[in-house]
Amino acid sequence: MTIENDDDLNKLKTIGRIVFETLMLMKRQMGIGMTTLELDEIGAKNLEKYGARSAPMVMYDFPGYTCISINEEAAHGIPCEKVICAGDVVNIDVSAELDGYFGDTGGTFPVPPVDPKIRYLCQSTRKALRNAMDVARTGTKVNQIGASINKTARKTGFVTLKDLGSHGIGKSLHEEPHFIANFYDKNDRRVLSEGQVITIEPFLSTGSEQTTTEDDGWTLTTGPGNFSAQYEHTMIITKSKPIILTAL
Ligand code: CO
Ligand code: CO
Repeated sequence: MTIENDDDLNKLKTIGRIVFETLMLMKRQMGIGMTTLELDEIGAKNLEKYGARSAPMVMYDFPGYTCISINEEAAHGIPCEKVICAGDVVNIDVSAELDGYFGDTGGTFPVPPVDPKIRYLCQSTRKALRNAMDVARTGTKVNQIGASINKTARKTGFVTLKDLGSHGIGKSLHEEPHFIANFYDKNDRRVLSEGQVITIEPFLSTGSEQTTTEDDGWTLTTGPGNFSAQYEHTMIITKSKPIILTAL
């Protein structure tokens, strides 16, 4: 969507704050020995506190309130009886709706002891998000986001997941511009416009460049022994830096 008035702005800010607060709460309370289902319940309770509804559940009948993906799982992991262990790489993605407006945020949180390569993967992915946000402004081609993400990945010795991407958001979880790639797509001629609401969510990976859907129909996994990281913000495009909505 494109912001048209203060009501749009305020409602997007509200749901943005709620999903980000939920993500940070889950990150803080995540612990060794906890199941991903228990972690999901912490998120569910916080969304419920505000009357917000889980976006994947409402939009796609996803069997969980949040997506929790561990190790070789890149995204859309279903909360279950799986126990979080020392050294696991846990991605949490929280998206929700309130008053007809959507917010979407995510992050990868390694459980200590953290392998130096994983720490660097996470640092590099956060850098990819910052760098991509620096180029995302009114009048810029949408494909510059992917070009920037891929450049940061290459510079830091990682690759990107080619089948996952960022997206427009606002009155729905996924809207125009649909699928903003994690690489430079020369055929993508779309241009970012003033007030447009989008997510940026780079996925950097240690080796795999594609995901496979598991038999559960949801979980997207990379290859055996592969790790990936994702950090996501929802933001408004302006003439200068984007306004981050998923913040406290
Ligand atoms: Co997300
Ligand atoms: Co998203």
